[in-house]
Amino acid sequence: GACNNESRGALIVLEGLDRCGKTSQSSRLVSYLEGLGHSAELWRFPDRTTSVGQMISAYLLNQSELDDRTIHLLFSANRWEKRSMMETKLKAGTTLIVDRYSYSGVAFSSAKGVDLEWCKAPEIGLLAPDLVLYLDMPPEKASERGGYGDERYEHLEFQKKVAQCYQILCDPSWKMVDACQPIEDVQKQLQKIVLDNVLACRKGKPLSLLWS
Ligand code: TMP
Repeated sequence: GACNNESRGALIVLEGLDRCGKTSQSSRLVSYLEGLGHSAELWRFPDRTTSVGQMISAYLLNQSELDDRTIHLLFSANRWEKRSMMETKLKAGTTLIVDRYSYSGVAFSSAKGVDLEWCKAPEIGLLAPDLVLYLDMPPEKASERGGYGDERYEHLEFQKKVAQCYQILCDPSWKMVDACQPIEDVQKQLQKIVLDNVLACRKGKPLSLLWS
């Protein structure tokens, strides 16, 4: 049936520096899965549509100032407010392609100097992704892309620190994809990894929680 674990959707997260191509690759992945007849949705964090998300958005647009730990907890709350919907969708068989998740939360806040373990703590108990795709691009290259510098964190020196924090967080299960390749080549590599994962989740791979 549609509601048992055997047919659940996959929780697939794309991570990487600002302007590495995550957003366009994420929406292409959803189209790809839908084209194969799978149920799939594009999600993103921060989700700026909620009231917490609007506070985050104002901060990112430099329209408000917040203490580093306060904004960290708002980003985390923004994931917690979506958690039950996330679980419902996955259990109903929908694969979620998520543009940024807890790893962004921890990497960006710890890049400011906030203690790594403190950053992880509010994320404990959120659903763990079945797959993390890291779109790898040197900070210098990402900074040459259009629109860079529009938001608070889009500064080369800061992004270099974020890249180092992602290095600390990444584990051997992450799939690293060279995001400097042509967009079609990146997409082909992502498609194969994602499809394998979607099929594994359908076969009954259990959901797990962060950080395990
Ligand atoms: P976006 O450009 O993907 O919408 O992300 C907005 C910015 O917020 C981006 O610079 C990464 C940062 N961020 C955090 O600092 N913490 C988080 O938890 C998330 C999801 C994003």
